[in-house]
Amino acid sequence: MSRILTGIQSTNIPHLGNILGAVMPAIKLSEQPGNESLFFIADLHSLTTQKEATQRINSVNSVAATWLAFDFDIEKNMLYRQSRIPEVCELTWYLNCFTPYPMLANAHSFKDKSDRLSDVNSGLFTYPVLMAADIILYDAHFVPVGKDQVQHLEITRDIASKFNSHYSSDVFVIPEAKVDEAVMIVPGIDGQKMSKSYNNFINIFLPDKDLKKVVMSIVTDAKTLEEPKDPDTCNVFKIFQLLGNAEQISEMRENYLKGNYGYGHAKTALFEMILSKFEKQRNRYWSLMNNTNELEKQLQIGEQKARTIAREKIKLVRSVLGF
Ligand code: ADP
Ligand code: TRP
Repeated sequence: MSRILTGIQSTNIPHLGNILGAVMPAIKLSEQPGNESLFFIADLHSLTTQKEATQRINSVNSVAATWLAFDFDIEKNMLYRQSRIPEVCELTWYLNCFTPYPMLANAHSFKDKSDRLSDVNSGLFTYPVLMAADIILYDAHFVPVGKDQVQHLEITRDIASKFNSHYSSDVFVIPEAKVDEAVMIVPGIDGQKMSKSYNNFINIFLPDKDLKKVVMSIVTDAKTLEEPKDPDTCNVFKIFQLLGNAEQISEMRENYLKGNYGYGHAKTALFEMILSKFEKQRNRYWSLMNNTNELEKQLQIGEQKARTIAREKIKLVRSVLGF
């Protein structure tokens, strides 16, 4: 059996880029026989940048509702809040004492955040150590992540190996990053990579009217209705291409090339595609967001299972360390 583990920070509502680039591929991986998946909401990590409790609660619910709306099977797997497994904080302290200071000081993501953010707190600095604890507490074998997280996985492997070799033990499984090169980069409404940091994202869970407004605001060139258009340089087409089937895509491509097809038409087609493709997920998402008792129940199922694994591992770590 392979254990697959990944976390998403609870700093916002997952957008179309997160869904196509992270949530859907991870769920597909979890469906392979022989894989057991632990997907969690990295709410402790979110405290490094987000201090408001109400925002955090809303975003935790939203990330959980997204995984469930996209049919993550919680019977076979585990979905949980990082903060509900206190063993992860205990392990973080132990791992801190095996982490060379320069390794954290030289991490790209720390350098990047400390250049950009006004609040450069110690949580940002030790972020990779908490991430290492997230992973090795559960004996994860594979960690599906984006390219930006690869260095964090290298740090995790370093810390785990250091610990193992210090005690001539194999307490921790050494995990591997799983970076899917084939995963598409979803463009945002301005054509840059879709990201919450660029505020160019499509939230597929918006009410119809608001969603339509966002889709209609996708940036295009100024060609007139009559003019033929180049689908391959158009953001509307690029996003449509990630959602439609072969026939729908080639029909839109022809429309672009032959002219008398405006960007308004293409945007309407994209809006309708989002509504139809994600109809079930949008309904499921809102039914969970409107019934947080149910959401809580589903999370607690995963938390109980994850905690059992965490308790066993921390017991072993304490005994190796002489605590
Ligand atoms: P954001 O850029 O909005 O802050 P995150 O960095 O929190 O998103 O990414 C969470 C996950 O979603 C990562 O696995 C990342 O690779 C994936 N992801 C984010 N944006 C995109 C995108 N535009 N296209 C594809 N995958 C994305
Ligand atoms: N740092 C990851 C991100 O920002 C989120 C995360 C926290 C994570 N802990 C993890 C991802 C453990 C994978 C495994 O995307």
